[in-house]
Amino acid sequence: MEKPHLTILLGTARKNRQSQKVAHYLLDFFQQFKELDTNLVDIKDYATNYTIAAWEEDEAANPWREVAAKADAFIFVVPEYNRSFPGELKIVLDSELAAYSNKPVILAGVSIGSFGGLAALNSLLPALHKMGFRVLPGQLHFPEVEELFKNSEEELALIYESKLMKIKDDIFKSLNL
Ligand SMILES: Cc1cc2nc3c(=O)[nH]c(=O)nc-3n(C[C@H](O)[C@H](O)[C@H](O)COP(=O)(O)O)c2cc1C
Repeated sequence: MEKPHLTILLGTARKNRQSQKVAHYLLDFFQQFKELDTNLVDIKDYATNYTIAAWEEDEAANPWREVAAKADAFIFVVPEYNRSFPGELKIVLDSELAAYSNKPVILAGVSIGSFGGLAALNSLLPALHKMGFRVLPGQLHFPEVEELFKNSEEELALIYESKLMKIKDDIFKSLNL
């Protein structure tokens, strides 16, 4: 039987985005679990410069629709921009609906400030609920992200290892693993 697909979505296309470090950190962590097929996708490869509704035929939406259909669970890496989330993330998410139905999502907020993208995640939640995702209660926060990733691997593990194990357990449970 095919392994469940965990798709990590890097949710910003900004040049020099720090969120990339978070996305790769999460990819490295989740790839150690062989029960899952974990991959990383980058919003910049899917974002269009106009909204495509989920019910509209448009081949520009197909690559994301295929990713969404294949995924069994998601982690969205979401930086905070003006207390909200990146517009390109909304454009991409708006282009599909059916493939999201009841699929578990973990949110990982990223910010330069000390709350780790909490405001961004809070502003994204109503849209995710409307779209039919099953947002899992555990969240990850990566505050002061530039400084954070100056820590050694061991120091990062001290901060995140137990949180990540808990998130991994939640994802496994949601996928009946
Ligand atoms: C347009 C814009 C608005 C931002 N607004 C906030 C904010 O409201 N709160 C905050 O803590 N950081 C804010 N930041 C800083 C980001 O959180 C910071 O760049 C962080 O590294 C995550 O975003 P990145 O992946 O694009 O680097 C903002 C950054 C940009 C580009």
